Amino acid sequence: MSPKKDENDEEDVDYEEFEEEDEEIDDELPDYELTDLPGVGPAIGKRLVEAGFKSVEAIAVASPGELAAAGSIGETTATKIIKAAREMLDIGFETADLLLERRQTAGRITTGCKALDDLFGGGIETQAITEMYGSFRSGKTQMAHQLAVNIQLPPGEGGLSATAIYVDTEGTFRPERLVDMAEHLGLDTEAVLKNVVWARAYNSDHQILLCDQAMEMAPETNAKLLVVDSVTSHFRAEYTGRGTLAARQQKLNKHLHHLQRGAEVNNMAVYITNQVMARPDAFFGDPTTPVGGHVLAHVPQTRCYLRKSKGERRICRLVDSPHLPEGEAVFTITKEGIQDV
Ligand code: GTP
Ligand code: MG
Repeated sequence: MSPKKDENDEEDVDYEEFEEEDEEIDDELPDYELTDLPGVGPAIGKRLVEAGFKSVEAIAVASPGELAAAGSIGETTATKIIKAAREMLDIGFETADLLLERRQTAGRITTGCKALDDLFGGGIETQAITEMYGSFRSGKTQMAHQLAVNIQLPPGEGGLSATAIYVDTEGTFRPERLVDMAEHLGLDTEAVLKNVVWARAYNSDHQILLCDQAMEMAPETNAKLLVVDSVTSHFRAEYTGRGTLAARQQKLNKHLHHLQRGAEVNNMAVYITNQVMARPDAFFGDPTTPVGGHVLAHVPQTRCYLRKSKGERRICRLVDSPHLPEGEAVFTITKEGIQDV
């Protein structure tokens, strides 16, 4: 159904007039009704959806300024709508004991390398996003494959006896590598391959859709790992130029918040990769910064920087974690997978 162009598109419309009007507008709204939010009538709801605010979540994490612009409403109204969205989603306080209880149910997946596992406090954590950023061939994709195999190990051996979902945006997923790694661990290769579901994402919207689908199917398929390799490449390709940066960051931000929510709800590890880009204008500090910059820096819980060393050696630096000290670990990539040096 194509959006109906009507007088609602005029600039100075009295929105109240349209509150009781046509039902077609309602049909275009997504599952979570934006119009359930006080202050959002069908006309404003339609504008918000068209501007990309398609869910109550998106509104909850928006700033009053951007929401005001998108809905052609005042900032005071926008602030009230955001507050209502946050209340609706129960974004607020809870006691620390409840949080601790939930965190104690978090699982860990071994990376296959003792030094790395120690760095991560026992492995890659569920209920959280782990971001691995680094230059090409630094091992981000190899690690993704390794985790997809290791998650299948029993809990005593570093896994969670669970399955993996792999969203591939760059076409670099290789089942042959899963076979190599599974053989090394003495696992049934057929079974290992069947426990990894894979999809190629062709653009950022497709990627978001696949991830939402992944979070929906996770409970019934016992999936405890979602890989998004890479999380930023489509966004980078689709939003070029300075003027589009804000739109890109907003969309990416929303995507990451959905992933974070899914990780918590499903007690699942979300592993995302991100390539670094050279910044010719950077004279000080690290000349490479992760694509996505600012927004991505504040959503993932654990951020790691991978860099190449001699031969097949790689160095992983824990850059940011809410509960682990900074540090480095060295590992190597072999035919058998990620290993200690
Ligand atoms: P980009 O996606 O290009 O940003 O790189 P990446 O960080 O994902 O790198 P990736 O994980 O694909 O690492 C590639 C490297 O892994 C290769 O350069 C090899 O060093 C190593 N590698 C991959 N497959 C094998 C293999 O079968 N045997 C061995 N020994 N090394 C491998
Ligand atoms: Mg890769």
